[in-house]
Amino acid sequence: MALTLGLDLGGSSIKAGAVDPVTGQLVGPLDSIPTPVGATVADTQVALTELIARFPQCTGPVGLAFPSVVVRGITYSASNIDKGWIGCDAAAVLRAASGGRPSFVVNDADAAGVAEMRFGAGRGEKDCVMMVTFGTGIGSALFLNGQLWPNTELGHLEIDGIEAEHYASARVRTVEKLDWPAWCERVNKVLDRYHSLFWPDLFIVGGGVSERFEEYGSLLHTKVRIVPAGLRQAAGVVGAAMYAHENAAN
Ligand code: BGC
Repeated sequence: MALTLGLDLGGSSIKAGAVDPVTGQLVGPLDSIPTPVGATVADTQVALTELIARFPQCTGPVGLAFPSVVVRGITYSASNIDKGWIGCDAAAVLRAASGGRPSFVVNDADAAGVAEMRFGAGRGEKDCVMMVTFGTGIGSALFLNGQLWPNTELGHLEIDGIEAEHYASARVRTVEKLDWPAWCERVNKVLDRYHSLFWPDLFIVGGGVSERFEEYGSLLHTKVRIVPAGLRQAAGVVGAAMYAHENAAN
């Protein structure tokens, strides 16, 4: 099976890894490159080209987890990236950066959620599962019977007049220097609202901050189970590779 390259564009870095798309295993370490300041389309394409060139062993399709609404390869929103991405054919940008390889783009939280449902904390879960990623923004991925409802974008839901991601993202925690109890109080409020709208049976916490779940997990009080992402930081990369592999086969 050809190794598939998974990429995950975040606020500070673009991560990449060679993935066996059948087992979901990373083959070798993750690599990364800084996300260009402002993340314009042109600068991002240059960074992607450089990063992709470091993985000559990946001869399969290429997948990119991207922080935007993505429908059939077109990006339709731009909260924490340059507005030039709105209406952009992001799959074509990725194709150009990869020298014409089959290229697929998927929302970052959806990618992470797909990986978690197959290989991580959501494995075997049948009911309603909501993955929530905390990073520069807040991402969401909703599953019923293992099937994804894409582009749910719950980070933009307003809570007391403030978008959830402007209130409780990992970035807000850093910028406002919130300690764990103060940040978790906000996260509890956000998750409580999500619960009252969608009634998930399980929450999966993703994003870089999921690596530190032991430090704050006991402060999260949801009405249902809440667990950290099993694949931790690699979830987006693995999910992007799975998405590329599955779409290339169709
Ligand atoms: C974007 C989402 C993304 C989330 C996490 C939000 O600002 O609108 O598409 O999933 O950030 O990166």
